[in-house]
Amino acid sequence: MKILAIETSCDETAVAVLEITGSKIKPNFKLLSNQVLSQIKIHKKFGGVVPNLAMREHRKNLPIILKRALAEAKLTPPRPPLLRGGSKKKISSFTRRGKGEVNKLDAIAVTYGPGLEPALWEGINFAGKLARLWRVPLVAVNHLEGHIYASWLESEPPKFPLLALIVSGGHTELVLMKKHLNYKILGETRDDAAGEVFDKVARMLGLGYPGGPQIARLAQSARKYAESQRKSAGKFNEIKFPRPMINSGDFDFSFSGLKTAVLYYLRGNPCADKAAVAYEFQQAVVDVLVKKTADALRKYGVNPHTKKFGVGVKSLVIGGGVAANQALRHALGALIKKSFPKVSLHVSPLWLCGDNAAMIAVAGYFKARAKKFSKPEKIKAQGNLKL
Ligand code: KG4
Ligand code: ZN
Repeated sequence: MKILAIETSCDETAVAVLEITGSKIKPNFKLLSNQVLSQIKIHKKFGGVVPNLAMREHRKNLPIILKRALAEAKLTPPRPPLLRGGSKKKISSFTRRGKGEVNKLDAIAVTYGPGLEPALWEGINFAGKLARLWRVPLVAVNHLEGHIYASWLESEPPKFPLLALIVSGGHTELVLMKKHLNYKILGETRDDAAGEVFDKVARMLGLGYPGGPQIARLAQSARKYAESQRKSAGKFNEIKFPRPMINSGDFDFSFSGLKTAVLYYLRGNPCADKAAVAYEFQQAVVDVLVKKTADALRKYGVNPHTKKFGVGVKSLVIGGGVAANQALRHALGALIKKSFPKVSLHVSPLWLCGDNAAMIAVAGYFKARAKKFSKPEKIKAQGNLKL
């Protein structure tokens, strides 16, 4: 089975082709193409993503990367005029397995939310047109399920029940999944998302967009400097920011107070060492994310002390742009090793943390398998779509 996936929820235009072989119990995923065209350069000068610009760029980029993806995946490409609306007859031969037919496409998956609605609509309309022209069924995918399902592209997939921590530019959520496509949100951010607060603090520090990688780089330089002074970066750093809601006893997050604390600190200390600020800020975010994840593992996994089960979480999945953060990856790795050695950790590989269509294709496969297809005209962009 082959799935073509389209992702346009924010500032990455992405198209992927995924081949699925093996059995239903143990499907094998082979990514035949994973095209991502980033618009970062365009939005950078505005300090964030401009929805209408993103929409325009998606419209321009989609036909280009579709062509590239089809070529790379060696799917019989429809001739160029067909992409602009050729005859149905010619195109349907693209999907039908016939004489001389090289390849077949079984479904198209498309992100329908959450995200920027004008941007989402571009992907949805494009996918709808292809689905009609090629007569292929369409699957609507939630971007957040994509971030979770990215972990199925690893050689060892996660096991149910699993706990997922989604940390992206728009979301911070702890989710419990007892089986495929079954999501229970345990907690989420009450204000800013983790990635959002990285971006905002980066702006305060005069760093570029997106801020996450820039803060991570600065924080790393602070750590290296501290090490060169034979001190741990934590002890070396005299700045202390709050860890909001770290002991709230629930699984919700709040990062806007942390953002304000950084703002006030910078106002009061205009000559502050930016690397030290970045280090302490990043550490505050990581501490909260790790503590809440540990709390959730304790409640829903095996209690390491009493050996009693919650629901017995077997895997921890981390996905979303902020999952690329090395300090977070390191801290979660250390947590699992120390306190939850029986839980398998699945942190998306770096190339799958940011937005891409490969993850949408995997989620699309599980939805297609469950026969969750949608008619093109029924799919609507939903900026605030929940899991
Ligand atoms: O998942 P994603 O690519 O898009 C959304 O779905 O929102 O996440 C983007 C977010 C941005 O806020 C970006 O600053 C953050 O992920 N990010 C990072 C890192 N790389 C990207 N945050 C912290 N550390 C990083 N290394
Ligand atoms: Zn994302």
